[in-house]
Amino acid sequence: MRLVHLALAWLAFAIAAPAAAIPAATLASPSGVLKLEVSLNGEGRINYAVSRGDRLVIRDSELGFLFSDAPQMLRNFRLTGQSSRSADQRWEQPWGEWRTVRDRYTELTANFEETNRLKRRLTVVFRLYDDAVAFRYVVPRQPNLTTARITEELTQFNIAEGGEAIWSPAFESNREEYLYQRTPINAIVTVQTPVTMRTQSGLHLSIHEAALVDYSGMNVRGVQDGRLEAVLTYSADGPKVVRDAPFQTPWRVVLITPDAPSLYAANTVFLNLNEPNKLGDVSWVKPMKYVGIWWGMHLDTQSWASGAKHGATTAYGRRLIDFAARHGFGGVLVEGWNKGWDGDWFATGDEFSFTEPYPDFDLAGLAAYGRRKGVVLIGHHETSANVAHYESQMEAGFDLYQRLGIPAVKTGYVSDAGGVQAIGPDGRKVFEWHEGQLMSRHHLKVVTEAAKRRIAVNPHEPIKDTGLRRTYPNWVSREGQRGMEYNAWAVPKNPPDHEVNLVFTRMLSGPMDYTPGVLSLTGRGNTPIPSTMARQLALYVVLYSPIQMAADLPENYEANLRPFQFIKNVPVDWDDTRMLAGELGDMAVIARKERGRPNWYLGAISDEQERRFDVALDFLEPGRRYRAEIYRDGDTADFRTNPRAIAIERRDVTAADRLSLRIAPGGGAAVRFVALGR
Ligand code: NOJ
Ligand code: CA
Repeated sequence: MRLVHLALAWLAFAIAAPAAAIPAATLASPSGVLKLEVSLNGEGRINYAVSRGDRLVIRDSELGFLFSDAPQMLRNFRLTGQSSRSADQRWEQPWGEWRTVRDRYTELTANFEETNRLKRRLTVVFRLYDDAVAFRYVVPRQPNLTTARITEELTQFNIAEGGEAIWSPAFESNREEYLYQRTPINAIVTVQTPVTMRTQSGLHLSIHEAALVDYSGMNVRGVQDGRLEAVLTYSADGPKVVRDAPFQTPWRVVLITPDAPSLYAANTVFLNLNEPNKLGDVSWVKPMKYVGIWWGMHLDTQSWASGAKHGATTAYGRRLIDFAARHGFGGVLVEGWNKGWDGDWFATGDEFSFTEPYPDFDLAGLAAYGRRKGVVLIGHHETSANVAHYESQMEAGFDLYQRLGIPAVKTGYVSDAGGVQAIGPDGRKVFEWHEGQLMSRHHLKVVTEAAKRRIAVNPHEPIKDTGLRRTYPNWVSREGQRGMEYNAWAVPKNPPDHEVNLVFTRMLSGPMDYTPGVLSLTGRGNTPIPSTMARQLALYVVLYSPIQMAADLPENYEANLRPFQFIKNVPVDWDDTRMLAGELGDMAVIARKERGRPNWYLGAISDEQERRFDVALDFLEPGRRYRAEIYRDGDTADFRTNPRAIAIERRDVTAADRLSLRIAPGGGAAVRFVALGR
């Protein structure tokens, strides 16, 4: 009896114990900084591992799929072929943080086939940059996998070292709008991407995805011992993704860099992994600063709904157009212009009209008035995430905007997570998730329909950014995290470290319509905003977007004309970007060169601690003099006790100088370097 037990125990061990991994293929990044090893273990499971120099960064991590109607694809693979290539190209962005982007990588394509009777085939394409690893699954056309009904993607990221992570939770009711947590890597729960880590040896990593097309968004779950796994966003029924073969998944990406500034600079990888511009001439996409009928609603002194508090009146629209024209803003956002806001608008979204203005808002007249003054209207389509209703009117809504010369629209998808109302494949109403496969299709439909009419799109409560702005450059910005609105009405508001955390997580994925510049420093009921005055200015440089709002009420700018001058001057489109200093969660100092002009701008923000930075100005053109217009925290500034103290100074500098400034707790600094003679 005992012998039988022992024999059984041995047998169980023999089955469970993986035989040694068999290396299948290797790849080195262009300068040899990163190395990838792809292997098959004794069960025929595909693994990949990545090292940087001598240090293992990602331990053997498995790849595969679970299906709802077929056996999982995970083991019994053999390698049937492999090929590799490399590329080194440069391409120009129509707008962006950098005018020219270099795309330099090595690539390995590994073809696998199951050794069981199904003999299903799977290809994995790996790309190595010197600062990132990326891979995507390619499912070829084949008899035993005609339609993939994916219930989960079995992708692992086994982080080899301990360290700390900055993450924001996934699948919570306010969708992507959550404060960040800073925990050991081992305490990561189920989180959104980008999720960013600093390992014990100082490496900076961030996991995200690129080219999210017709697929469900990827989140990441901590399992144990540094093991992170992909968790796809839910769909209403059954599988999270349904695709006919052949198809390819989005790219799974891990940025791997030696420090925080190089992590930020690595964000071009997400653009490089997307297809080039498909829209042709996009000179009609105009980066701009804008003001809007907006903050008053968040303060609750105005309303979207009709009635005595209605914000979108013809008179107020004119006042904002006049204000925009006087101060050099390109656009005026008009929230609450259309019928459908009366009653419980976020409950169903059924009531919205995307073509009929409220009677007290002369949309056509204001569009014409603005045109005479050189100011465009920016349209607004709040959908309450009822995409079924929206899609029934969307094209008519865009036609109207096109007719009136409205070149941009802010869309909105306010509903709880899992509350997207859509029509399922069988014609029934279904409740979907904001980052599911259905929404990946919906957003591209919006962007392409808008592009046909030369309209730029800025969704709030959006699907995450995965670099698709390269392919569709009219997808100019989006929200996708807690923005300034939380400083109007939320408890808690955005604490100072939130904006620093954004820089190293959300902002890696692309532009954010954060809507900075609230110089009153107060939210609803005069509650204080956790920020100094100089910090509100710094946000325009630190949080990149080609469209930036000056969010505050016109009277608050008129009462603060000196700091407002920076908001009037700061551009929104850049030739070059450098993070001069930065640490996760602590501080970020970013310099950017104005597109097509020799001027530079610098923005710096800190968390709730007082901090100092001392940076070389060697990004300036050597031998040239610049007038530095410095907007810094006053000597006694502190976001808790003295938020309004600001010092505005001028001094001449050259590339040989340094700039050393104190940032108050919750503070910031904004500098304009105006090029003078040589
Ligand atoms: C939430 C958006 O983030 C905000 O900017 C907008 O004003 C409201 N929804 C209403 O659409
Ligand atoms: Ca929002």
